[in-house]
Amino acid sequence: MSTFTIDTSTSRATPSPVPGKRMTAPSIRARKADGRTEQPIVMLTAYTMRMAQLLDPHCDMLLVGDSLGQVIYGLPSTIPVTIEMMCAHGAAVVRGSWHALVAVDMPFGSYEASPEQAFACASRIMKETGCAAVKLEGGEAMAPTVEFLSHRGIPVIGHVGLTPQAVNVLGGYGARGREQREAEKIIADAKAIDSAGAFCIVVEGVMEQIATEISRGVAAPVIGIGASSQCDGQVLVTEDMLGLFERTPRFVKRYDDIARRIGEAAAAYAEEVRSRSFPTPDQTYRPK
Ligand code: KIV
Repeated sequence: MSTFTIDTSTSRATPSPVPGKRMTAPSIRARKADGRTEQPIVMLTAYTMRMAQLLDPHCDMLLVGDSLGQVIYGLPSTIPVTIEMMCAHGAAVVRGSWHALVAVDMPFGSYEASPEQAFACASRIMKETGCAAVKLEGGEAMAPTVEFLSHRGIPVIGHVGLTPQAVNVLGGYGARGREQREAEKIIADAKAIDSAGAFCIVVEGVMEQIATEISRGVAAPVIGIGASSQCDGQVLVTEDMLGLFERTPRFVKRYDDIARRIGEAAAAYAEEVRSRSFPTPDQTYRPK
C-alpha cells in the first residue's frame, strides 16, 4: 500500500517516495523487441483520481476508457460518451498518477470523419488532461488517421477485434473472429494499425488463434482483453476485476467481491444510524 503526503491547502496527495519517471509511449513500445515481450505489460482502466492513485503503482498504463459511459454514467453503451466526459475523467486520472502512462479513449464521433477531425479532438484531449496518448477503435479504415496523428506528436493505441463503439454494426458484444473471413480481417486490421505507427494495440474479444497470429505478426505490443494469454500484456475494466457488478464477461477474472463488501458496509452503517449507535463520542466534536 502506498503512503501519501497530503498538501492541506490543495488536498493534493503525493505518494512517498515519489516514483522516479512516468512510463512513455516509446518505453512501452520498447518492451517488445524481436517479437517478444520479456515482461507482460499491465494495464487497467481508471476514471477517477483516487482509483488512479491506488492502481498507479501496479500498472504500466492506465486507460481512461470510454467504458466509463456504462461504468460511471449508467449509459447503455459507449456511443453517447462525449469529449467533455473523457477530458474531465482524463484530467482526474492524470492528477492521481505519477508512474503509469495515462491513455484516454477518443469517444465515438470524435475521430472517424477525417484525420484532421481526429487531430483536433486528440490534441484537445491531450491539452485538457495532460495524458500522454489516445486510443481509438478501428482497423484498416483508421490506419491513415493513426499515421496522421503519430506523425504529429500524438501517440496512438489502436483497438481491434470487438470494438464496442461499433456495437450497432456488429450487432452485440460477442467474441469476434469465429469465421475465417472475419478472423483474417481482424488480423489485417491489426497489421494496418501497426504499420501506421500505433505504439501498442488493444485486441478485444477474439479467438485465441487470432491473438496468437496478431501478437506474432505485429511489431507493437499487443494488449489483450478477452484475447487469451498469447498477448504481450493484458487490460481489464477495473470495476469488473473488482467484482462491482453482478454480471461480468467470461474473460474477466474477479479478484475481489467489492459489491458484496460495499453492501455489507452500507447495511452496517444503516443499522447503526437507525439504532443511534453511530456516531459515538469518537466521531463527535466537543470543547477540549
Ligand atoms: O473503454 C474501455 O475500457 C476499453 C477497454 C475495455 C480496452 O476500451
